[in-house]
Amino acid sequence: MTTPSSPPPAWVADHTRVVAPPLVPELRLHTATEVTSLWQATEDRLDRAGLPPPFWAFPWAGGQALARFVLDHPDWVRGRRVIDLASGNGMVAIACARAGAAHVTANDVDPLAAAAQQANAVLNGVAVTIETADRIGDRLTRIDLLVVGDLFYERALAERLWPWLQGVAKGGLPVLVGDPGRTYLPKTGLTALARYAVPVPLDLEDREVLDTTVWRVGTDRQS
Ligand SMILES: C[S@@+](CC[C@H](N)C(=O)[O-])C[C@H]1O[C@@H](n2cnc3c(N)ncnc32)[C@H](O)[C@@H]1O
Repeated sequence: MTTPSSPPPAWVADHTRVVAPPLVPELRLHTATEVTSLWQATEDRLDRAGLPPPFWAFPWAGGQALARFVLDHPDWVRGRRVIDLASGNGMVAIACARAGAAHVTANDVDPLAAAAQQANAVLNGVAVTIETADRIGDRLTRIDLLVVGDLFYERALAERLWPWLQGVAKGGLPVLVGDPGRTYLPKTGLTALARYAVPVPLDLEDREVLDTTVWRVGTDRQS
């Protein structure tokens, strides 16, 4: 558990600058200004090559949309126990805490994401529980809402993720997904709740705005 009094992990703070995500200007997040140099610094720091890109250093479009949605529709989270799967920099988890969730877990398998979540929770004055276990496939207990921002970018991951999310939703747990039309997002089995034009870094996405949807997993016919 991290609390606002924990010191921010210094390495994250040293290699990023504090920026407000464009769609969620009420939050402040340690954010990379340039992906390649941060990626190199991460590999140098861990003395390892071939690491995945520093996903934790950016507010991805799916997460920005989801964070905007919960802040503008706090009834989805108020008083609930929420898990933000693949939390990256912790943006959605922090938005849920701000929107009145009873308890928030930021989950990401990348330990540097955990450090970023800790630094960002401190920056935004909220408490979140941070965990790095891979929860895909787990039976989620003592959770009232599952939120997932921008996780359909890789085939193998999506093939594990989607059947599990469907099962979780069929079991009665609401599941919200924020996604800007990534390649592996399923075309059916989702209900649109809100749409946003999300400003994104040109060097990361090859465009400046991504049309992004917040979905609920499941359809009216299924529920
Ligand atoms: C594109 S980023 C999205 C981050 C954040 N949700 C957002 O929208 O800004 C994808 C994140 O998924 C994480 N990830 C990948 N596989 C995962 C898994 N099996 N469980 C949890 N997190 C995972 C990565 O470490 C990365 O931080």
